[in-house]
Amino acid sequence: MFKIEQLLYSYDALQPYIDAKTMEVHYSKHYAGYVNNLNIALQDYPELQLKSVEHLLINLDTLPAAVKTAVQNNAGGDYNHKLFWQMMTPGGKSLGHGSLLSAIDTKFGSFDQFKVQFENAAKSRFGSGWAWLVVDQVTGQLEIMSSANQDNPISIGKQVVLGLDVWEHAYYLHYQNRRADYIAAWWNIVNWGFVQERYYHLVKSL
Ligand SMILES: [Fe+2]
Repeated sequence: MFKIEQLLYSYDALQPYIDAKTMEVHYSKHYAGYVNNLNIALQDYPELQLKSVEHLLINLDTLPAAVKTAVQNNAGGDYNHKLFWQMMTPGGKSLGHGSLLSAIDTKFGSFDQFKVQFENAAKSRFGSGWAWLVVDQVTGQLEIMSSANQDNPISIGKQVVLGLDVWEHAYYLHYQNRRADYIAAWWNIVNWGFVQERYYHLVKSL
């Protein structure tokens, strides 16, 4: 059984950048729905129920055809949201002068230029999907990318450093069609402490 991860803050804790109703519906309906649907998809596959969502997403091509799409969407939805909740914190946490800021400066020229490129990836993703800052597992380099639906970079050899949900369910109640305003506001609640720590361990394990 795949389980719903506890949210470490209340639904209203990310206000005014993300409103309480959006967080409640996003967490208790959308995210919980992915986890439940993953369990339903794998109910006849006890050996797959024992795997981690990471393992399932890395090995999508080895899955039975009957469940591959359901796993891609719902294990993806589980994994992406679990990360997303932790990548935010009330009031945000700043990015200190650690290894991630150095790598961002080297790769993108400056933190501000990184933000512009990341925002462009988030704004230009057509329809539902995610914007990502990832580490390529072969080169160890940072990259910005986006993906459709609940697809995750882990399925194509890249590890997530930072991710932004740009599905309408993440912002529509408050921002309606103004995705760019949601993206701009989101920087205020990024948990850079968590993201830096995650980057440190990812690079160490390459
Ligand atoms: Fe979402």
